[in-house]
Amino acid sequence: MSAAVAGGAARLLPAVPSAEGYTAHLATAGPLPAFSGDELIAELGRAGLTGHGGAAFPAALKWQAVAERSRARGAVVVGDAMETEPASLKDRTLLALRPHLVFDGMLLAASAMRARRVVLCVASSSDALARTLVAALAERRRAAPHEPRIELVTSPSRYIAGEETALISRLNGRRALPRAVPPRPFATGVDGLPTLVNNVETFAHAALIARRGARWFRSVGSAAAPGTTLLSVCGGVAAPGVKEMAYDSTIGQVVAAAGGPAGDPVAVLVGGYFGRWAPAATAWSLTLEPGSLRRAGLALGAGVIAVLPRDACGVAETDRILAFMARESSGQCGPCSRGLPALAALFHDTALGRARPGVLETCARWSLEIRGRGACRHPDGATLMAASALEVFHDELRRHLRHGPCRESARPPLLPTPVLTGR
Ligand SMILES: Cc1cc2nc3c(=O)[nH]c(=O)nc-3n(C[C@H](O)[C@H](O)[C@H](O)COP(=O)(O)O)c2cc1C
Ligand code: SF4
Repeated sequence: MSAAVAGGAARLLPAVPSAEGYTAHLATAGPLPAFSGDELIAELGRAGLTGHGGAAFPAALKWQAVAERSRARGAVVVGDAMETEPASLKDRTLLALRPHLVFDGMLLAASAMRARRVVLCVASSSDALARTLVAALAERRRAAPHEPRIELVTSPSRYIAGEETALISRLNGRRALPRAVPPRPFATGVDGLPTLVNNVETFAHAALIARRGARWFRSVGSAAAPGTTLLSVCGGVAAPGVKEMAYDSTIGQVVAAAGGPAGDPVAVLVGGYFGRWAPAATAWSLTLEPGSLRRAGLALGAGVIAVLPRDACGVAETDRILAFMARESSGQCGPCSRGLPALAALFHDTALGRARPGVLETCARWSLEIRGRGACRHPDGATLMAASALEVFHDELRRHLRHGPCRESARPPLLPTPVLTGR
């Protein structure tokens, strides 16, 4: 994948993709206005900002829940920059280019919540990003010594380590594993305090809304889905990379912003490995708005748009992704730690053409049986992705069963499925 290229309606990404220091940041964005916490939360609510970490939860509701509980004891603010989704690049790109915008959002939240600690979490394998952030934070401390200090903490590079309760466990000195909720982080999180966890892109949008207001934020996108979103566009596109698009853009326009399709597109994985496959013909005209995607059984998730061209094999890609998701179970809940590997093995046998008749029905049944039965949503994402592949690649799966792997499945993988070893 290439480095960042701003496309569409750029607000977060600079027109020229180069790292912005603090002085340049102040010149571009202007100083942070003085807001009371309540005023800022109300403005985020009017803007309709939703989270960019996967679940699209309304930011103002989460900020309000923490702010209400923080009055007596204070709170902790956590920026989630783990970006554990292998096909995603948006968070590290944003932080490399505009770190101070993210810091602004975190500091605004800290002020609204009377936070005792402000922590930015990155994956332990992201050495280059960590070095960039250490330098940017040092610059910030020199230039604005009165601001609260932002701590930089690394957590193991595992898929589930970016989940918010896993981050909290790590910050509480335990292993970075998800745990069952309640208590939810907004009630009891780091050091037993109410804790706000937001994706770093969410904080960057909040910093712009604080400066320019809800009306400005709503001036692009649609009434139901205002503003822009960062997308990691990969697979069969001419210029893969991070694009910033308004929510009312169609997936076809997203692909056009990524240089157009490379090869004949047959399917799109929307939302990443937690997401779902859709036929390209269906996906192309859908907008990024949650409602539009939901009606087609899709969700934007972590903002990955992966295009499958005709000369790649969706069965082989799904086979590798499922194996990755099974390896990444934290092993704490039976249906996830045993069910995902079993489903992945069955799908693998199907991809190799060595499974028995009825296997596709068994895969569909298992994917339903595993879903919703873990402490976190990891198995839900993996099984929804698998179920969508059973539908979208139904004919290809039958061909694999009858004749063995197709010629395209021998090609190099299109989507990354790294073996992660962080503990
Ligand atoms: C298995 C799993 C992995 C996750 N990984 C990340 C991640 O790497 N980065 C992230 O921001 N959110 C991740 N999330 C979502 C977080 O738990 C949380 O919802 C998010 O950080 C909240 O931020 P937002 O409200 O700004 O979206 C993950 C969730 C799950 C279930
Ligand atoms: S559902 Fe899976 S990943 Fe989540 S806590 Fe349980 S075993 Fe771990």
